[in-house]
Amino acid sequence: MESFWQKLNKPLFVLAPMADVTDPAYRRLIAEYAPPSVMWTEFVSADGLYHTREKAGMKDSENPLVRDLLFREGERPIVAQLFSSRPEMMSYAAKLCAELGFDGVDINMGCPDRSIEKQGCGAAMIKSPENAKAIIRAARESGLPVSVKTRIGYNQETLDEWIPELLSEAPEALTVHLRTRKEMSNVSAHWDLMPRIVALRDKHSPKTLILGNGDIKTLAEAKQKVEETGCDGVMLGRAVFGNPWLFTGRETSEILPEERIKALYTLAVYFNELTPAKHFHILKKHFKAFVQGWPGAAELRSELMQTGSLEELTAVLDQHKLVYSDA
Ligand SMILES: Cc1cc2nc3c(=O)[nH]c(=O)nc-3n(C[C@H](O)[C@H](O)[C@H](O)COP(=O)(O)O)c2cc1C
Repeated sequence: MESFWQKLNKPLFVLAPMADVTDPAYRRLIAEYAPPSVMWTEFVSADGLYHTREKAGMKDSENPLVRDLLFREGERPIVAQLFSSRPEMMSYAAKLCAELGFDGVDINMGCPDRSIEKQGCGAAMIKSPENAKAIIRAARESGLPVSVKTRIGYNQETLDEWIPELLSEAPEALTVHLRTRKEMSNVSAHWDLMPRIVALRDKHSPKTLILGNGDIKTLAEAKQKVEETGCDGVMLGRAVFGNPWLFTGRETSEILPEERIKALYTLAVYFNELTPAKHFHILKKHFKAFVQGWPGAAELRSELMQTGSLEELTAVLDQHKLVYSDA
């Protein structure tokens, strides 16, 4: 059966998974303002999902970690990003994602965080291709289409070895963050390597969609990369900070202060409603991103940084006589 990936209009412009940024609240805002071709959840530990449930002897529906996997219909198509180095855990979690109604499962093979790598997950997968392939096969047991997000190598670029290993499992899509693990985010993304990745795809798994990732700031730039490199699409991450309109083509500099304030307030309302277990301070990244670029923004931002609840945030906006709601 054809998966949702094959039915999408190309080129694809997709929203990157970003822990504590692309949570259910921000995804809802983006889905309402400017939906991308595909959304990703934040990454979720397959082992964590399993052990939390086992320890408490609870049903999947009672598992607090499942809260990180809630989404709304308007976010479709949406893929759940999972990480694990144990095939049986991946199989369990991917099946759970199928039950939850996700359109696909994505496997994180690029995260450089030490606590993730210690578990043999994220970028550490690049060093154990046999296990990486077993993890892809395990995710497939869910019946969902499986995609992978990775980097160009670990200590150095090893595209010719690593990418064919992944392609031998014919994932539906492969997103390549165009840096090595060692480079973290400290150098510019190597977009010059993308034509080589596309050629590897053509040779080893012609149906796999190739998405490039790294440093793209606007939709126009993303379109240009597709034209220049032949990839099927681009994944955008940090460009969406302070700009939930990104996928309409609007650039951050074009967004008016009053639009920013309304979007930020709406985000805080959604955050309260959809992620009750998360601490309000997680929103502070968004305060920084939305509240900048006009006279008085710095003062407002520093006042917002002191707030600890939706009520306090609303009080600050009221004090500044800002319009934040259409009601
Ligand atoms: C705050 C933050 C959280 C992130 N969380 C994840 C994650 O959960 N899973 C993942 O695969 N990548 C994660 N990333 C990496 C991004 O998906 C993306 O690969 C990276 O930011 C480069 O793309 P960009 O230049 O378009 O932002 C995260 C990045 C940031 C900045």
